[in-house]
Amino acid sequence: MKILLCLSLIATVALAIVESVTSLDQFYGVVNNFNATNPTYTVVKYYTNWCSHCKKLKPVFEQLSESSVLSEVDIVDPALTSGINFAFFEVDCELFGNMLCKRLDGFPAVEIIKPLRSELNVTRLEDPRGWIDRLLDTITNAGYDLTWTLDTDRIVTFNGRRNLDVFERFVQAVVTSDQWDRVLQLIVNDNCSDKDELCEDGREYFLKMNDETNCAEKIADIENEMKDLKDVPKDLMLRYMILNKISELNNEEPLEQDEL
Ligand SMILES: *[C@@H]1O[C@H](CO)[C@@H](O)[C@H](O)[C@H]1NC(C)=O
Ligand SMILES: *[C@@H]1O[C@H](CO)[C@@H](O)[C@H](O)[C@H]1NC(C)=O
Ligand SMILES: *[C@@H]1O[C@H](CO)[C@@H](O)[C@H](O)[C@H]1NC(C)=O
Repeated sequence: MKILLCLSLIATVALAIVESVTSLDQFYGVVNNFNATNPTYTVVKYYTNWCSHCKKLKPVFEQLSESSVLSEVDIVDPALTSGINFAFFEVDCELFGNMLCKRLDGFPAVEIIKPLRSELNVTRLEDPRGWIDRLLDTITNAGYDLTWTLDTDRIVTFNGRRNLDVFERFVQAVVTSDQWDRVLQLIVNDNCSDKDELCEDGREYFLKMNDETNCAEKIADIENEMKDLKDVPKDLMLRYMILNKISELNNEEPLEQDEL
């Protein structure tokens, strides 16, 4: 009994493995799977076998997939009642050069693909490719699937030093700001659910401050207040984000934001 228990514990920890992509269905099945309460952020490494920096990145990327930081990412968005998920993919660009790696500048590349905000509406999609590519796919892939699509707005490309701690901060920042982004979108569009207190409070504050002409000063005040805090409370962060949004909507100079 004891041995079984140990085995199952190990299996749970080892779940965050880096999966090699072997088909487009596998890739888009994860990337375009919509789950409103438990979305998946997909971290992708694109590589080729001949690139030496790709070899150096391999162990770091594996460490990232097992990093405890991933389970400590803040859940800001109250809609995510089951938390968030991560998937780690590696794409061999000698196999998928034409499909998944086409837009890349070089290797290796690391991206986070943010989850869908709503179910993919397949009936609205059109095959974006030219007829030669379509013909080739018909021959090589036995057809094209309209769900093999990815809005570039959902992609965040990593540009830093390829160290574990830099990757960890990158993942945290992307996931946190994506959640704030969703909350802010609901607030601005007056589409808070009445069960969502953070959103409702935010809406109230947004309406109160919307005509504010001196956002910059208020933002500076909050920044000052934040400076001395180790953990910034959610409501303070919310006000900060909303003021920045208002100033963005009013086409003011974008403000330098501290790294999250
Ligand atoms: C979303 O994820 C949760 C937690 O993993 C799961 O229980 C639920 O069934 C999923 N919902 C859908 C629609 O797949
Ligand atoms: C999907 O798109 C089609 C065509 O634009 C539209 O008629 C339909 O209502 C959409 N469905 C959903 C669920 O949004
Ligand atoms: C607002 O939310 C409701 C359900 O929560 C949804 O049906 C509707 O499409 C949303 N409206 C906008 C403008 O996003």
